[in-house]
Amino acid sequence: MRNVYESAHPLVKHKLTILRDKATKPKKFRELIREIAILLAYEATRDLALAPTTVETPMGLAPGAFLQEQIGLVPVLRAGLGMVEGVWEMMPGSEVWHIGLFRDERTLKPVQYYNKLPVSPTVQVCIVLDPMLATGGSASATVDILKRWGAQRIKYMGIIAAPEGIQTLHDAHPDVDIHLAAVDEKLNEIGYIVPGLGDAGDRQFGTG
Ligand code: PRP
Ligand code: URA
Repeated sequence: MRNVYESAHPLVKHKLTILRDKATKPKKFRELIREIAILLAYEATRDLALAPTTVETPMGLAPGAFLQEQIGLVPVLRAGLGMVEGVWEMMPGSEVWHIGLFRDERTLKPVQYYNKLPVSPTVQVCIVLDPMLATGGSASATVDILKRWGAQRIKYMGIIAAPEGIQTLHDAHPDVDIHLAAVDEKLNEIGYIVPGLGDAGDRQFGTG
């Protein structure tokens, strides 16, 4: 599928294996979510626009470049929270706009409970952060919200996806690049990714 990118990086694969392990405790789990998010951001931001500049070194002038566009990081509560700090450290000039959604356990449809976006868009590129792309309902709803806000360019960064979720997000928003650490086999009958890692929010926050 066009614009779906699954990381082939050995560090991502190594860290993802420990992340999936049911014996991994919340502290280590959070550390890994943070580190994998940084590695995925490195891949997901390779097409950001640059403005050329010149910098004075102790030895003379050197050509340089700065990020040209204002970036918005959009973590989806709760589980996306663990992905934001590391990525923000890489791009400290970014704005962070939280979106609160949870999946109704019965219908598996997303329910919005937090959105404090201002009236007009303040960023040129949005990067949605949410580790799990399961049915794709939450990701599609988040992109809907950002497009209604007026966001022009949107990228999605997740850690594990089910094929069903990728298809749903891609069908609804074919212009959105999807960056992932892994594409898993399927969803089970209660909407969990198999083999996945279980509930990403509960495993980060110790609430399972
Ligand atoms: C998880 C995950 C996504 C959503 C994915 O959140 O972080 O937001 O499920 O599922 P979908 O693709 O079927 O919509 P959850 O609803 O468990 O909320 P939480 O992060 O607050 O635990
Ligand atoms: N949300 C999760 O946290 N895990 C899944 O497998 C599916 C949705």
